[in-house]
Amino acid sequence: MAPGRTVSSFDPRQVRADTPLLTRVVHDRTITYLDSAASSLPPRAVIEAISRYYELRHANVHRGVYQTANEATAVYEGARAAIARFINAPGGANEIVFTKNATESFNLLAKSWGAANLKAGDVVLVTEMEHHANIVPWFQLREVAGIEVRFIPVNDDYRLDLSDIDELMKGVKLVSVTAMSNVLGTINPIKEIAALAHRHGALVAVDAAQSVAHFATDVTDLDVDFFIFSGHKMLGPTGIGVFWTRESILEAMPPFLGGGGMIADVRTDGYTPASGPSRFEAGTPPIAETAGLGAAVLYLEGLGMDAIAEHEHDLTGDALTRLALEFEGRVRVIGPSDLESRGGVISLDVEGVHAHDVAQVLDQFGVCVRPGHHCAKPLMRRFNLSATARASFGPYSLVQDTDVLLEALSHAVTMFG
Ligand code: ALA
Repeated sequence: MAPGRTVSSFDPRQVRADTPLLTRVVHDRTITYLDSAASSLPPRAVIEAISRYYELRHANVHRGVYQTANEATAVYEGARAAIARFINAPGGANEIVFTKNATESFNLLAKSWGAANLKAGDVVLVTEMEHHANIVPWFQLREVAGIEVRFIPVNDDYRLDLSDIDELMKGVKLVSVTAMSNVLGTINPIKEIAALAHRHGALVAVDAAQSVAHFATDVTDLDVDFFIFSGHKMLGPTGIGVFWTRESILEAMPPFLGGGGMIADVRTDGYTPASGPSRFEAGTPPIAETAGLGAAVLYLEGLGMDAIAEHEHDLTGDALTRLALEFEGRVRVIGPSDLESRGGVISLDVEGVHAHDVAQVLDQFGVCVRPGHHCAKPLMRRFNLSATARASFGPYSLVQDTDVLLEALSHAVTMFG
């Protein structure tokens, strides 16, 4: 069990008690945190792991031979092993690269693997519901390598439209798709998409930033090729991201950033890159962040990913039902109504009221939601929206959060009505 945790089975009230920020009072109300899709709240166990690292073990990794330097390296490599276990990486820790965030992981994918393996005319197939992190690096590669970036459309039910997929797959070398939309909450059928892509000879990359803290992940079972996520959306700290790929693919990828730590040798006539994940971890890495990330993995494992998924599923069902009943169409949910294909991300469009105004009224009740385009502008254009106000759950969320959300929303609707 992670240090600081006091329960052995999932109890969202205990998770709440473990999470210091949830005791904050803002505008005379206890905070109602409904922005876990933007960044989740670390439990005390994560915060303490980071403090412990700085208080007792702070040193650079893979360099010194003294006791605390060895301990720092053990913390860093321990987190890599924990992540490999958490996602069931078939080749273990040797397949896990630490980056700054999911966005950097996508840049590593496009600028290392993509630049080395894709040529003019090759197609990268993304979807209309992608985050900009899984779009812009491909456009950048298009500028230098002449690849084509193609989009799987989203249908009116907020799901991927796979009806024309065989046509869309022509010339595709990589399918790069989100496991769960950060705007719609839609959960995509990754295993089926991977099988289909492989049948067409393409590889599959998954943006798991929104899924990895909300339901169990098994990259071996999914049979995908690249898997990308961030620490801060899984109860860990900011400043750390993960890039997973099979060892055979990783070994053939050229370095992305150059400098210390990523080399086997440097001479006056050139350099030889290191093998393994170090090849992609130039410079002093985010060590304290891996201390926090390792603790976050232990904490999530202690709760149980299936229990978290079930809890958030119930919360989402309750919120969708009450939103439909209490606002009779004045508040539209932009996302699937079918609970089985969606997670706890609820984007709201309040008739006649801009999402920023909604979010500002909600803030007066201590309710934290994210207004805006959520870094998914192609999706917003698809649905003729400039912004939504997005509420999203974490393992510490309770029905009482939805109570306050609805109270505050009623106020917004009346105020602007
Ligand atoms: N990608 C994060 C979000 O959806 C920041 O809010």
